[in-house]
Amino acid sequence: MNPYLFPIPISMILAVDNGNNIGKNNRLPWGHFPEDMRWFQEKTINSTMLMGSNTWKSLPGKLKNRHHIVLSSKLLDKLPDTTLLNRSFEDSIRRACALSPYPKLFIIGGKRLFEEGIQFVSRVYLTRINHLYDGDVKVNLDEILSREFYINNIDTILSKNNNIEMKFYEYVRIKKVENPGSH
Ligand SMILES: NC(=O)c1ccc[n+]([C@@H]2O[C@H](COP(=O)([O-])OP(=O)(O)OC[C@H]3O[C@@H](n4cnc5c(N)ncnc54)[C@H](OP(=O)(O)O)[C@@H]3O)[C@@H](O)[C@H]2O)c1
Repeated sequence: MNPYLFPIPISMILAVDNGNNIGKNNRLPWGHFPEDMRWFQEKTINSTMLMGSNTWKSLPGKLKNRHHIVLSSKLLDKLPDTTLLNRSFEDSIRRACALSPYPKLFIIGGKRLFEEGIQFVSRVYLTRINHLYDGDVKVNLDEILSREFYINNIDTILSKNNNIEMKFYEYVRIKKVENPGSH
């Protein structure tokens, strides 16, 4: 599988704390960091976002200038733009690329989509929040990130609200020489 050969670039965006927590009670463990929300908005604008049904339920609704595709085993009460029912992960990615009205696709969570999806992405946007929260969903992608990606950029900021440090990483997949791609 060469992620550079999908028809549009596929990226992943997530935030973790020092314990690799990503969620608590179907919300973010840290509540809301405006700086991280802004980073999420900037990266995902004009893209299709692929997510699991819990992540979809955790959103306030559809976000402007984005196409929402949700994986589920059943039709949902709150309807996204598209629901993909009971498909394999690879098939879901292919379908999402084909359905996307935008030229890029983002995997935005949760756990299973991050863990199964990382093999299909060429970029990972990861916010590391330098604090430990209480969480009930964890994701640790460090091993695969260090093996298959390089760090293209890191920005560090302190949250204005409470001075907590956030590092915004951009990881890019290392291209194999025998498998070049265009994006
Ligand atoms: N920190 C971050 O960056 C971040 C990002 C996203 C989410 N979150 C947090 O993470 C938590 C939600 O994540 P989660 O891991 O619990 O849930 P999730 O991945 O959003 O949703 C899981 C559900 O999606 C459906 N699903 C997933 N893959 C499927 C497939 N291939 N085919 C059919 N259905 C599939 C199943 O539900 P059904 O079949 O029952 O519908 C499954 O139970 C929340 O707390 C949220 O706030 C954090």
